[in-house]
Amino acid sequence: MHTIALISRKGGTGKSTLAIGLACAAMQAGHKVCLLEADPLGTVSNWRRRRTVAEPTVETILDGYLLFNRVQALAQSGVTVTIIDTAGGWSDVSRAAIAAADFCLMPARPSPADIEAAAPTLAAVRENAKPFAFALNQVQARSARLNGAAGSLGERAVALKMGDVLALPAIVLRNDQQDALGVGLGVTEFAPRGKSAEEIRGLWQWVWARLNGVSQPEAEAPPRRPATARAAVPVADAPAALPAG
Ligand SMILES: Nc1ncnc2c1ncn2[C@@H]1O[C@H](COP(=O)(O)OP(=O)(O)O)[C@@H](O)[C@H]1O
Ligand SMILES: [Mg+2]
Repeated sequence: MHTIALISRKGGTGKSTLAIGLACAAMQAGHKVCLLEADPLGTVSNWRRRRTVAEPTVETILDGYLLFNRVQALAQSGVTVTIIDTAGGWSDVSRAAIAAADFCLMPARPSPADIEAAAPTLAAVRENAKPFAFALNQVQARSARLNGAAGSLGERAVALKMGDVLALPAIVLRNDQQDALGVGLGVTEFAPRGKSAEEIRGLWQWVWARLNGVSQPEAEAPPRRPATARAAVPVADAPAALPAG
């Protein structure tokens, strides 16, 4: 079983939205998924109440010790992917979520306040020596060229050897993300052919590849081109997609 914790001390970065979106994308990719809600705010359980489909299963656990033990038990129960949605701020439960996870995904909006606020979260993840990546969320559609493995962000991340710590694609701010949650669906169920669904599926594939030890810089790096030629390369000239999850 693989366990992914969505972590950020700052509220509103998209932990619950991405936890739900990724859980549904993983389920559609054939996994048996459990969503563990470790946040008394109840975003995931409220979403579950609006949902008519039984899977993914949702459990709310607000105690760090119980959360850690539950993840160990799920590993024996046939669940193949567990996704933990955590609260903003910092608590024993967040600590337990990091300890129980194989991988920590840290959503951040592309704003100075969010990037600065990510530092203490990163320190906590590093203290536990956990593999991690940032996921840019609520990116303005205007800067959608950020969005996509072939976009400048992907290439720069690879050039800066950040390919393993910046999950791609970035997730754009769109109504679909909010509307899906409002009717108890994942965005890949709500509008399967929409751009948000495509992004979330891409993010799941990125995380899945990472969980399976695929090194992102090698998997994602486009072929080297002279600087002048690169400027003329269309965005559609994308590197091969990562393996499906
Ligand atoms: N990509 C997105 N597009 C549109 N709205 C989003 C997106 N990501 C999050 N939101 C909205 O932003 C708010 C905060 O997101 P949420 O997932 O609850 O954050 P967190 O769990 O980190 O507090 C919610 O209203 C959610 O619907
Ligand atoms: Mg939340």
